[in-house]
Amino acid sequence: MIQVQDVVRNYKAGETVVKALKGVSLEIADGEFLSIAGPSGSGKTTLLNLIGCIDSLDGGEITIDGVPVSRMDKHAKTEFRRNNLGFIFQTYNLIPVLSAYENVSFVLSILNVPEREIKERTMMILQEVGLTGMEDRRPDRLSGGQQQRIAIARALVKNPKIVLADEPTANLDSKTGEEILRLMQEMNRKYHTTFIFSTHDRMVMDYARRLVSLHDGQVTGDERREA
Ligand SMILES: Nc1ncnc2c1ncn2[C@@H]1O[C@H](COP(=O)(O)OP(=O)(O)OP(=O)(O)O)[C@@H](O)[C@H]1O
Ligand SMILES: [Mg+2]
Repeated sequence: MIQVQDVVRNYKAGETVVKALKGVSLEIADGEFLSIAGPSGSGKTTLLNLIGCIDSLDGGEITIDGVPVSRMDKHAKTEFRRNNLGFIFQTYNLIPVLSAYENVSFVLSILNVPEREIKERTMMILQEVGLTGMEDRRPDRLSGGQQQRIAIARALVKNPKIVLADEPTANLDSKTGEEILRLMQEMNRKYHTTFIFSTHDRMVMDYARRLVSLHDGQVTGDERREA
């Protein structure tokens, strides 16, 4: 479970201070498929980066399974992130010189998983995301949708508790975006991984089982719906 309590995040831009999050509270249970929606500048990325232990807050607290991650130092956050969290980005963020296979398997190499298990797990997850036969291709020889499938495989291969996805379909056409959402939904059901994704796209919101609305750094809506 993720507990976000009264979280404040201010950015200093020269003389002025931007109040990106003004006291956000949220509880997210294991296995949720949750969308954070809101207009540009509402604080979606800021919130995801804080839950994702990428950034530091200025007030409040975030705990994940009772661990007060927001109080950790940089080193401990990196370690926590590596072991527990998966990320999917709008621009895929794949390593261009690595093949599809290598983009996924290196995650397990970092975690010192034995060589044979790396191969098994990488091949299996690439199959799950529909990329069998494309293992040797580099990202520049794959479509946007295929690249995002690699990113999903990379996020899931270490069996994280939580996957954070900041506008995962923003660079895709609507049909491909929908395929990516369906794949994320399928992975959420199969592995009970918690998915938290941000969007301002109505189609993407419609896939969420819970829709949290952010406006101007505050939660203005929290709606549960039938999947
Ligand atoms: N590094 C930064 N320095 C200064 N201000 C920032 C920084 N990052 C974000 N902000 C400001 O904080 C507010 C929230 O930004 P954030 O990126 O979280 O919004 P968002 O909801 O993700 O927007 P978008 O939909 O455009 O991605 C905005 O006013 C933004 O200008
Ligand atoms: Mg953003």
